[in-house]
Amino acid sequence: MNTSSPFQLPALPWQENALEPIISARTIGLHYGKHHATYVKKLNELVAGTRFADMPLEQVIAATVGNAEMAKIFNNAAQTWNHTFFWNCLRPNGAGEPPRKIARLIDESFGGAPQFKEKLAQAAVDQFGSGWAWLVARGGKLEVIATSNAQTPITMGATPLLAIDVWEHAYYLDYENRRPEFVKAVIDGLLNWDFALEQLEKADVRKAA
Ligand code: FE2
Repeated sequence: MNTSSPFQLPALPWQENALEPIISARTIGLHYGKHHATYVKKLNELVAGTRFADMPLEQVIAATVGNAEMAKIFNNAAQTWNHTFFWNCLRPNGAGEPPRKIARLIDESFGGAPQFKEKLAQAAVDQFGSGWAWLVARGGKLEVIATSNAQTPITMGATPLLAIDVWEHAYYLDYENRRPEFVKAVIDGLLNWDFALEQLEKADVRKAA
């Protein structure tokens, strides 16, 4: 059994100051270097010497979701996964027009890009307390959903395409209590549509296999 630290903190896809002025280097430094790093560290401590130490992260999440006795492992595993996903959902000079394939699905699913943006912003703002807002693909359509705490769409039969972290640690240093301002700035300036398209295409390949 693998008793070393099986789960690693992946490198950020950009420099810590790359998302300024929308997200400060200080926020990224703490969010990635303390919060995300701590989820990975705790997960490694919790799984040491257990069957989970030999599983891929996604399998740990699937094996522990909804099990109260496994809540600590689930929470740290899902937050490890969610944060790694989230960093890739952001990029400097992001947002803009989605790729055609996603734009078409957005039109079919929400009635247009402005309606989609509004729905994503609303889900992010309305999530009570800590959690996440997501754009997901499910059943050939796109949906906006919110999850609380560490919950993740990968346990819900959905393929996440984009995420916005709305835990206070994601925005409080830069926006204090103004979550709507943070959410709008992320949606209008940082969303990484190329990454979203990659997720959709990977899911299409899995479905076709
Ligand atoms: Fe976070």
